[in-house]
Amino acid sequence: MMLELIRKRRSCRKFTEEKLTQEEIDQLLKSALWSPTSKNNRPWEFVVVDNPDTLEALSQCKPHGAAFLANAPLGVVVLGDPGKSDVWVEDCSIASIMMQMTAESLGLGSTWIQVRLRLDEEGNTAQENVKTTINAPDELEVLGILAFGHKAKEREPYSEDVLLWDRVHFGKM
Ligand SMILES: Cc1cc2nc3c(=O)[nH]c(=O)nc-3n(C[C@H](O)[C@H](O)[C@H](O)COP(=O)(O)O)c2cc1C
Repeated sequence: MMLELIRKRRSCRKFTEEKLTQEEIDQLLKSALWSPTSKNNRPWEFVVVDNPDTLEALSQCKPHGAAFLANAPLGVVVLGDPGKSDVWVEDCSIASIMMQMTAESLGLGSTWIQVRLRLDEEGNTAQENVKTTINAPDELEVLGILAFGHKAKEREPYSEDVLLWDRVHFGKM
């Protein structure tokens, strides 16, 4: 059931060394490529990375929150083309969460690594570091990187207690 998958999905930053199968990778990518986009513009591009040196380089794109990518078996860089859609951020975000939920449905772990609007220690943009590493063309923007792999340990699913029902308003605020 979808709600149960949503409750169980927790960010996973420690993976086993087991590689993903080609079938698993294909399923992740299908879920992205079947994602809804504004005006059906499909402004995204996905770069699948399993080379350890490339993953290591990507893990250094920003000082915090990306280091664990070096030890992940797979990363998917999510890029958008602002020339194809003014809402590429939304479209790329939807494709990203679709992949994360598909990973959960396959028993795999994942974490979103934010790249857009982030800087490295020298003040360069994290996106420039990522684009250089993967040879991305100038016109594309990087939303983020998703790390995927087999979970090294299971995390506690969310409980009913953490639901912020006070953020839900009916009719008027
Ligand atoms: C837009 C966005 C950006 C995020 N960026 C990072 C990141 O750069 N590094 C990281 O380790 N986790 C990142 N996360 C994961 C969040 O820290 C995580 O989803 C949040 O703490 C809730 O935990 P949960 O995913 O286990 O429910 C990001 C999540 C989102 C939705």
